[in-house]
Amino acid sequence: MAGARLSVSVSRLLRRLEPLFSSRHYCSLASPCAVSYSQYGEPSKVLRFLTDVDVPDVRDDQVSVRMLAAPINPADINMIQGVYPIKPPLPAVGGNEGVGEVVSVGLQVSDLQPGDWVIPADSGWGTWRTHAVCPASELRKIPNDIPLEAAATLAVNPCTAYRMLSDFQHLQPGDTIVQNGANSGVGQAVIQIAAARGLVTINVVRNRPDRSSYFELEMYLKGLGGHYVITEEGLRRQDFRDIFKRLPRPKLALNCVGGKSATEILRHLETGGTMVTYGGMSRQPVTVPTGSLIFQDIKVVGYWMTQWNKRQTDSQESSEMLSTLCDYVRQGKLQAPSNVQVPISDYMAAINSTRDAFSTKKQILTMSS
Ligand SMILES: NC(=O)c1ccc[n+]([C@@H]2O[C@H](COP(=O)([O-])OP(=O)(O)OC[C@H]3O[C@@H](n4cnc5c(N)ncnc54)[C@H](OP(=O)(O)O)[C@@H]3O)[C@@H](O)[C@H]2O)c1
Repeated sequence: MAGARLSVSVSRLLRRLEPLFSSRHYCSLASPCAVSYSQYGEPSKVLRFLTDVDVPDVRDDQVSVRMLAAPINPADINMIQGVYPIKPPLPAVGGNEGVGEVVSVGLQVSDLQPGDWVIPADSGWGTWRTHAVCPASELRKIPNDIPLEAAATLAVNPCTAYRMLSDFQHLQPGDTIVQNGANSGVGQAVIQIAAARGLVTINVVRNRPDRSSYFELEMYLKGLGGHYVITEEGLRRQDFRDIFKRLPRPKLALNCVGGKSATEILRHLETGGTMVTYGGMSRQPVTVPTGSLIFQDIKVVGYWMTQWNKRQTDSQESSEMLSTLCDYVRQGKLQAPSNVQVPISDYMAAINSTRDAFSTKKQILTMSS
């Protein structure tokens, strides 16, 4: 019995020492750094780039993580502005999503080991930093055999897309769905997951300032598996309506934008269809024609991934979702959104680019030098 305890302790000790000898070393910036804020407000005013950040010793229930990459999502900016429903205690580190590599684990940690890739289990964890020490319970292990940018962007947008395609309508191969903001990170994931399930997608995007960039975007979204790509204006034209002579009307509409764009996609739903609002990029309210509710039995609902995660942490459904998404990635059915990788020290330029109209490129902060 004593021998067994001794060997467990030795193996845990070895696990703690392993990173010192590991060949899987990601060259991080010379000193631990973080993008932090001490008050809510405009990112350009409140964000600070901290260097030589103190990294505490790892307690028994904790894990030391070297962050590898973390995207900048619209919600991250809203959180810094203080207008998001989650307000992390200040001072806080920016970023909700990202992937890190476990460097060492405390003596009580049995389900993680050095070299594992982890993502935050909850919002507000603070991913825009090079190093973190936290309780193991704040992290979820994900496979480390998928591309880094796919891992860094897995937890929010593909999961949101997956749930919206699974939980609101019973969709079968050949069914149609319509979405606006189709070139957003979520929209790109919707196109690919829908294609993997044999669903037909109608993808609505904002018109571009010139024809060639619109054409490029259309080709990109069709390359991901999108069937139809159309502008918000095009959606109202009769020739577009004619596609429903050969295509079933959508059972599901996914609304990233709000305002007129939401009303337009809702109008194309079949009787009994559902519109799920998950974003409000236009900052305009959703207006629903009375007739759609009364005569067409359209359901109008909202979805928030954070809420789902709170209810489903560690559930089988959650594990199945992550495992299916990683399988899609390995099978080449799901790729990371179109992206640009930017060193964390250039975070402000990356935030500004995130707010540019017509970009379609997710900014991903990388933590290596
Ligand atoms: N509810 C949830 O659980 C959940 C989960 C993930 C994301 N979201 C939300 O979903 C939205 C998209 O997130 P993301 O990470 O996919 O974003 P993203 O990759 O940054 O894409 C932003 C999208 O919004 C469009 N857009 C920007 N300003 C607009 C405006 N004024 N009017 C119409 N469209 C506009 C952009 O189109 P252009 O290319 O034409 O500029 C682009 O398609 C955000 O509101 C985010 O907070 C919600």
